Amino acid sequence: MAAPSPRSHLYRLLLILVVFGAGFLAVKQWATPDSWNYEHWYRGDAVVEAAAQPLVYGGNDSCKTCHKDVAKLWRKKPHRKVACETCHGPIVDHAKAGKKTAVAFIDKTRAQCLNCHLEGINRPRAFPQFSKQGEIGKLVPKHKELDAVTPCAKCHEAHDPRP
Ligand code: HEC
Ligand code: HEC
Ligand code: HEC
Ligand code: HEC
Repeated sequence: MAAPSPRSHLYRLLLILVVFGAGFLAVKQWATPDSWNYEHWYRGDAVVEAAAQPLVYGGNDSCKTCHKDVAKLWRKKPHRKVACETCHGPIVDHAKAGKKTAVAFIDKTRAQCLNCHLEGINRPRAFPQFSKQGEIGKLVPKHKELDAVTPCAKCHEAHDPRP
C-alpha cells in the first residue's frame, strides 16, 4: 500500500473550509431579503412599510386648527416644551378628517404632574421640581403647607403652569 501523501491533512482542512464557505454563502443568499439595499445597508421594503402605517400622533400643529386659544396660550408658557399629545394622548383617539371622533384624554391628578416634576437627584438641578424641603428643587413656601392629596391644579394651570 502506498504511503499517504504527507500533505493529505491539508487537503482535508481545505475541503472543510470550502464546504463551510459554500454553506455560508448559501445561507446568506437565502436569508437576505430581496429588497436589500447593498449601497446603504437597509431593507428597501422597510421604507414602504413604514410609510404605509396609519397616523397615530399628529404633532402640535394638528391641534391648532380646532384649539386656537389653548395653542396660543401654551406657546407662550413654560409647557411649550411639552407636546399636547404627551398629556392628551394621540390624535387618532380624538379627531379624524377634521372632526372630533372621541373625548380626548385628560388627567388632572397629581400623578400626571409628578411624573415629570417629582423631585429627584436624577433630574437636572435647573429643572423645576416639586419640592417640599428645597434640598434639590427650589423651596416653595406654598408647597411646604401641602398635604398629600391637594391637586396641583388648585394653584397651577396645565397650559399656563406658573402660578
Ligand atoms: C402638561 C400637560 C398638558 C399639556 C402639555 C397640554 N394640556 Fe391641555 N389640558 C391639560 C389638563 C390637565 C387639562 C384639564 C384642565 C382643567 O380642566 O382644569 C387640559 C385641558 C385641555 C382642553 C379642554 C379645556 C380647555 O382648557 O379648553 C383642551 C381643548 C386642551 N387641553 C388642549 C390642549 C392643546 C391643544 C395642547 C397643546 C397646544 C395642550 N392641551 C397641552 C393638560 C395639558
Ligand atoms: C377637527 C377638530 C379637532 C382637532 C384637530 C382636535 N380637536 Fe380637540 N376637541 C375638538 C372639539 C370639537 C372638542 C369639544 C369642544 C371643545 O372643548 O372645544 C375638543 C375637545 C378637546 C379636549 C377636551 C376633552 C374633550 O374631548 O372634550 C381636549 C383635551 C382636546 N380636545 C385636545 C386636543 C388635542 C391635544 C389635539 C391635537 C392632538 C386636538 N384636540 C385636536 C376638536 C378637535
Ligand atoms: C411630560 C412632562 C411634564 C408634565 C406631565 C408636566 N410638566 Fe410641568 N414642565 C415640564 C417642562 C419640560 C417644563 C419647562 C421646564 C424648563 O423650562 O426648563 C415645565 C414647567 C413647569 C412649571 C414652570 C416652572 C417655572 O417657574 O418655570 C410649572 C409650575 C409646572 N411645569 C407645573 C406642572 C404641573 C402643575 C403639571 C401637572 C398639570 C405639570 N407641570 C406637568 C414638563 C412637564
Ligand atoms: C397651594 C398652591 C400650590 C399647590 C397646591 C401646588 N403648588 Fe406648585 N407652586 C406654587 C407656588 C406659589 C410656586 C412658586 C412660584 C414662584 O415662586 O415662582 C410653585 C412652584 C412650583 C414649581 C416650580 C418650582 C421651581 O423650581 O421653579 C413646580 C414645578 C411646581 N410648583 C409643581 C407643583 C406640583 C407638581 C404640584 C402638585 C403635586 C404643585 N406644584 C402644587 C403653589 C402651589
